Amino acid sequence: MTLLSATLDRVKPSPTIAVTTLAQELKAAGRDVIGLGAGEPDFDTPENIKNAAKAAMDAGKTKYTAPDGMPELKQAICAKFARENGLTYQPNQISVGTGGKQILYNALMATLNPGDEVVIPAPYWVSYPDMVLLAGGEPVTVECGIDTGFKMTPAQLDAAITPKTKWLIFNSPSNPTGAGYTRDELKALTDVLMRHPHVWVMSDDMYEHLVFDDFEFFSPAQIEPGLYERTLTVNGVSKAYAMTGWRIGYGAGPKFLIDAMRKIQSQSTSNPCTVSQWAAVEALNGPQDFLAENAKVFQRRRDLVVSMLNAAEGIDCPTPEGAFYVYPSIAGCIGKTTPGGTVIEDDETFCKELLEATGVAVVFGAAFGVSPNFRVSYATSDEQLTTACERIQSFCAALS
Ligand SMILES: Cc1ncc(COP(=O)(O)O)c(C=O)c1O
Repeated sequence: MTLLSATLDRVKPSPTIAVTTLAQELKAAGRDVIGLGAGEPDFDTPENIKNAAKAAMDAGKTKYTAPDGMPELKQAICAKFARENGLTYQPNQISVGTGGKQILYNALMATLNPGDEVVIPAPYWVSYPDMVLLAGGEPVTVECGIDTGFKMTPAQLDAAITPKTKWLIFNSPSNPTGAGYTRDELKALTDVLMRHPHVWVMSDDMYEHLVFDDFEFFSPAQIEPGLYERTLTVNGVSKAYAMTGWRIGYGAGPKFLIDAMRKIQSQSTSNPCTVSQWAAVEALNGPQDFLAENAKVFQRRRDLVVSMLNAAEGIDCPTPEGAFYVYPSIAGCIGKTTPGGTVIEDDETFCKELLEATGVAVVFGAAFGVSPNFRVSYATSDEQLTTACERIQSFCAALS
């Protein structure tokens, strides 16, 4: 008998570790490394939010709360859904967790039985398939290529659904592509779901506020009220309010599902950090000007990165609607050779060679389920982005 659970055999180690480790080694050896891998805003948490946390500590609000969130925060979340998404939820339909990540995990743990399928459009956030596997389900990935702007078509969704499908995990704007579904594109998907009443939707709206130009964000239950009873709407303060380290995320859905998720949380982690919950109350109830200012900065960086990457030989970089990622194709570089004699056979080789030759760290597309591509997180300064893109241009120009 071995110590480790057989469940762990179903899960692969993070495919991004190889690049991250190499980047750390190069940095430790004194190399000038520019990391474009981080999935978090580079801004500091706004002052009013930090002050709310300090005030909570000073007032002794440092004890346990209800396992899935305190009433004041649930109230603030209900108000946010009504204000920003036109969705009406009662506090007993809200679950607060240690990041959106815990909410997604709890929901899958609470609902999946062996053999249950979960449809995941690819490119996907790396954790979705492995969370499904940890919860005993089967991920069914649907490849959505550059030709559809990395978005799933209604026909693809329809074809992926079987009698065993329990959930669709939907993420717009997306990590890793930044692709956002328009109202019409989303409605076409919800129409498909209305024809399959056994399928639930887990909508990961984490990048809701990071949208550009005149793109308008919509969530599935908002577009199709007929889906309200079988949707878990997931969001959090991490990306919108530059609060990744505070670890507060939340989900809203039917009470029986929220109750089931609470059962799991109450027997595992209990309440998310109390001081962070008070900070999140201020984030959601306080001034919201930060959101638009933040999005403006990211839009400028997106434009910079898209134009510089498209100027690189062999790279095709679509312009995404949101988040802080771009997901360029390197199809034009495959089969070429580096000055050192390495053939670029796939995106993993491209990213490894790029890092070794130029010190620019990006994540290869195979980690997100669609190749040959790489993901750039542009949550860093314009200067760093300009230098990194110049290095990528030189790297591509030197391939033959
Ligand atoms: C698409 C997506 N969903 C969820 C999360 C998790 O966010 P949190 O920090 O709230 O756990 C991330 C973080 O990278 C993400 O990119």
